Amino acid sequence: EKEGYAHFMMKEINEQPKGVYDTLHRRLDKEDNIVLDGIKLTKDDLDKINKVYIVACGTAYHAGLIGKYAIEKFAKIPVDVEVASEFRYREPFIDENTLFIAVSQSGETLDTLAALREAKRKGARILSVVNVVGSSVARESDDVFYTWAGPEIAVASTKAYTTQLVSMYLIALHMAMTKGSLTNEEYKKYIEELKAMPGKIEKILENNEVIQQLADEQFNSENVFYIGRGLDVYVAYEGSLKLKEISYIHSEAIAAGELKHGTIALIEEGRLVIALATQDKLYDKMLSNIQEVRARGAYVIGVAKQGNKEIEKSADKVIYIPDTLDELSPILSVIPLQILAYYIAVARGCDVDKPKNLAKSVTVE
Ligand code: F6R
Repeated sequence: EKEGYAHFMMKEINEQPKGVYDTLHRRLDKEDNIVLDGIKLTKDDLDKINKVYIVACGTAYHAGLIGKYAIEKFAKIPVDVEVASEFRYREPFIDENTLFIAVSQSGETLDTLAALREAKRKGARILSVVNVVGSSVARESDDVFYTWAGPEIAVASTKAYTTQLVSMYLIALHMAMTKGSLTNEEYKKYIEELKAMPGKIEKILENNEVIQQLADEQFNSENVFYIGRGLDVYVAYEGSLKLKEISYIHSEAIAAGELKHGTIALIEEGRLVIALATQDKLYDKMLSNIQEVRARGAYVIGVAKQGNKEIEKSADKVIYIPDTLDELSPILSVIPLQILAYYIAVARGCDVDKPKNLAKSVTVE
């Protein structure tokens, strides 16, 4: 079943080019228009929607954060993202002009399901982004956008996440084109780049050994920090969660600009910092942050686009991803973080596919 891989997690990491390809191409017609089939998001519907909530847990929540960015940037509709276990216990403003998007691999996460039911009761339109066909979340939604990751066995989510990202981008782009808030040229640019993603992920996977070597050097680290700016912050959250859940190393992800508001107090000699610097607009700012933590003794592994080599002067080591558009870079930048967490966990002798205390789907409160 593992097809020669030592763990399902590594098999699933390697299935991401296919998952991303399938999720994308199920939704594109011959002219590269996005087809949502049964999903009813007409111009009339969208003109009514004045608020979007994206609600999910864990890794799916991290995908939701990037969904917020995409919907606000492309479709110009305000979006709130919240973890389901909090959303359901407050009083969010929901009415018939609200679009509620639930994101869930399993479609069985109890908190997500309960939040969905609450939103439905208050009249919201329910769209879900789900991997498991016919799951509870899918059945109770008005519309379902399926991710085509295939079955995900490892407890730590990898291919579900990247296919959720592709889905969020497609939903956002579709909304934008329906509303007319994006030009054809811009649309084409994003679709072309999405189509290039499977090949670019392959390139990172071929680079596996470089990351394994870094993991073998760093597996004894404690209290690891993940920093980034812009979309990189959300990818940092996901990278940190991956490391925690499978290697049991405590880690924390924060917006790099927040360092000096407190967390930098914890940076000391030898502290491992993973610094994401994939956003062109924020690149120089990130280099300053890297210098800031290195001046206090941190050991910095940078993640950057291969065209941006300047980072080599600031970071101790750099993992490169292929060049891409800033807006879509999370699909690529998360891959090295998954691989790094995996090899660190393996080096520590952890049960990678079945981490302690965790279940694949959380059907209790
Ligand atoms: C982390 C992980 C969890 C899930 C979360 C939501 O690797 O797998 O954080 O993402 O429990 O699960 P689903 O997506 O099934 O609702």
